[in-house]
Amino acid sequence: MTLGNNERRMLRALLSNPEAGWNLNEILDVTEWTDQVHVAGSGQVLSDAGLVQIVESSSRKVSLGSEGRNAALDGLLESRIWNWLQESDDSERTMQGLFSAGFERHEAGPGVGLLKSLGVNVESGSFVWSDENAITNSINQRSEFIQVLSDSAMDIGGLDSELVKHFQGRKGLIEIEESTTRTWTLTKAGKEIKPDELKDVQQIGEITPELLQGESWRDAEFKPFDVNAPAPIPAGGRPHPMQALIERIRSVFLEMGFSEIEGDYVQSAGWNMDALFIPQSHPARTMQDTFYLNNPEKVEVAPEMLDLWAKVHEYGHDTGSKGWGVKFDKEEAQKGLLRTHTTVNTIRHIAENPHVPSRVFGIGRVFRQETIDRTHLPEFHQIEGIIHEPDANLPMLISTLKTFYAKMGYPDVRVRPAYFPYTEPSVEVEVYWRGEWLELGGSGIFRPEVTEPLGTEWPVCAWGMGLERLAMLVLGLDDIRELYQPDLERLSKMPIL
Ligand code: PHE
Repeated sequence: MTLGNNERRMLRALLSNPEAGWNLNEILDVTEWTDQVHVAGSGQVLSDAGLVQIVESSSRKVSLGSEGRNAALDGLLESRIWNWLQESDDSERTMQGLFSAGFERHEAGPGVGLLKSLGVNVESGSFVWSDENAITNSINQRSEFIQVLSDSAMDIGGLDSELVKHFQGRKGLIEIEESTTRTWTLTKAGKEIKPDELKDVQQIGEITPELLQGESWRDAEFKPFDVNAPAPIPAGGRPHPMQALIERIRSVFLEMGFSEIEGDYVQSAGWNMDALFIPQSHPARTMQDTFYLNNPEKVEVAPEMLDLWAKVHEYGHDTGSKGWGVKFDKEEAQKGLLRTHTTVNTIRHIAENPHVPSRVFGIGRVFRQETIDRTHLPEFHQIEGIIHEPDANLPMLISTLKTFYAKMGYPDVRVRPAYFPYTEPSVEVEVYWRGEWLELGGSGIFRPEVTEPLGTEWPVCAWGMGLERLAMLVLGLDDIRELYQPDLERLSKMPIL
């Protein structure tokens, strides 16, 4: 077997003390390499050749996270609240007292939770406890733990495992890092090699035009390449995964012949809802679901549109519909709000181009009063689109959506009947993923009550899909919030799209 120069160099180094187990730094020292990649790579080749034995041992080190470092300076939250409780009078030991003492709202909830689990109770609004010493002891133990780690990171074995478990359950207090250390030792066969067999050989590492012009390459020795050799992962910049996904969706729709449209976040209730024949009494129009604006409180809408919507909503106008049979409020239609869906963009596009056939899409941010949880955010994105042309029809809509999802990598798509006030028929779109059908959005053919006031006579296929839902599939996340936390480590590990 012919060894490369790196392997020869490493062997020469190990032979300078053939009985020793060598660690990384010792090998770097003697070989004068600056990059540990050489040690790992050459060490692996030597181990494969039976000349060196590699022993790996892993350890887990615990250090303070960002919250932990704050706690080391200012004290743990429970400790600060406990100190305050002990110093204050009976009458001050209330939630209100806690705020007056300068604790922030975001601290009060978790802080009281921590104290409750230590034995402090809230009785008729006041904090009370029985075993003062036990509470003080627990808190002191926690504080000492943090102080110890503030001096230096510690091996997990040397720490109280209950406390490690406790702090692991709290956000940002500690971090646990696994590390592997290796030692390299010569095997019997390795020790028998004579150093003078280990002179550097002349090897060609790069094939250049000059080399190929001559004849010398014919008997040259070429440096073998090991494509599996460990190498550092380049820490370059990359687009945020969400941005990358948006770009990909964009290119899929462009390639399917669609053009892109945009619109403003601030809209009138009229264009966001009345144009879509959403009744003015619809529950989704209330403050609980929609962000209405104080500024601008009113967004003016062309009087002709208001008149048309009023007729359609009140009695159906010329659409053949009976309307909602309720008086239409033009002031309500001019309330300013943050758009709740991007359907407002496609609707306005039709109103501006009623006689031009079009296939357009848009990817935009929308706003709804949602409580944040694993699958909901108050700001999210929709992938919206329409086909507006004389022969638009339901099969065309379904095959368009199927094509889109297939191009995104989800070939199994099904639709189910659904209801939206503005489409008939209405369908829900689902994709099959890991054994489950997941709902990704709504679609349908706009009702005459919607299209007639816009001035068009053609059918319109329309859809609005959730972008974050799709992102969760593509990036394999089970919590939507992970997408927007500025955790560079996690973001850098998300797949490149
Ligand atoms: N606007 C609907 C939503 O926000 C989706 C939709 C768009 C449904 C177009 C039908 C037609 O969920």
